Amino acid sequence: MSFESAKWVWMNGACVRWDEATVHVSAHGLHYGSGVFEGVRCYETEEGPALFRLDAHLERLYYSAEVYGLEIPYTREELSEAVCEVVARNEFRSCYVRPICFYGSRSLGVNPRGCPVEVAVMAWPWGAYLGAGGQDAGVRVTVSPWLKFDSRMMPTTAKACGQYLNSMLAARDAASRGFAEALLLDAEGRIAEGSGENLFVVKDGRVVTNDERHPILLGITRDAVIQLARGLGFEVETRALDLEDLRAAEEVFFTGTAVEVTPVVEVDGALIGEGARGPVTERIQRAFFEATSGRDPRYTHWLRHVAAQPAWSTV
Ligand SMILES: Cc1ncc(COP(=O)(O)O)c(C=O)c1O
Repeated sequence: MSFESAKWVWMNGACVRWDEATVHVSAHGLHYGSGVFEGVRCYETEEGPALFRLDAHLERLYYSAEVYGLEIPYTREELSEAVCEVVARNEFRSCYVRPICFYGSRSLGVNPRGCPVEVAVMAWPWGAYLGAGGQDAGVRVTVSPWLKFDSRMMPTTAKACGQYLNSMLAARDAASRGFAEALLLDAEGRIAEGSGENLFVVKDGRVVTNDERHPILLGITRDAVIQLARGLGFEVETRALDLEDLRAAEEVFFTGTAVEVTPVVEVDGALIGEGARGPVTERIQRAFFEATSGRDPRYTHWLRHVAAQPAWSTV
């Protein structure tokens, strides 16, 4: 990951230089994690950079904000334009985009009453999230000693800053023990998700994943993969997943904006299938990148192209 080539950040209504995109230490969001965010990928296509499922990401951003009572002082179209402007001004052909809304500085009571809502959009190049080669060779994961919090404790379908402390503990523990990623179980011992990914299992040629009846973020990549897998003719089932499903799985893979589609080849030393990327995962991966690159006409409605000659270039 590298921030060096990112020159511009959209902040509270206008683009500012990277170094000027700062926040005061008294911001409520810094103290209590009171913010919501998104991660969106922008892909290179023949018609220039295109954001993958930007509308769905903004839909989830506004939903997460509503859950936490944050009133975003911009319309979806304004934030869409802001995202496009950041990508274009930075002259990225592909990148990761991070819109974030958080309570700013006014008071530090836990109730953020009166705190202003600040909004920023960053973008930077971000390659393979779980390491180079992970998407081909697959990754080794561990079942985390940290459980995923229950949806009665925090709204698991919302993407909020403070909620990621749970993920951070799990990711740090996994890395300290030499694994690429952590798999979190819920309080009933069922599989929830990775620290930043949804999980799919392939069994008897069927593609299986869990849903919001379990404490997961409803991933936009997850939704895309369900549609792509059905388009490829696979049967997709949504139900509870447990550790026995991993033991019996022919293939396992993660989905997420950061990891895209990444095979899981080993869980705590036990190989999944042959311990290599399986054929179903490979077909779904290929279909995913056909869609993100605009090469599959059935899914071009998922792409929002960044204008080559944006209006702001003349300002
Ligand atoms: C906890 C968690 N689960 C799942 C996902 C996958 O969601 P998406 O595909 O929308 O990026 C993410 C990433 O945003 C995540 O942080």
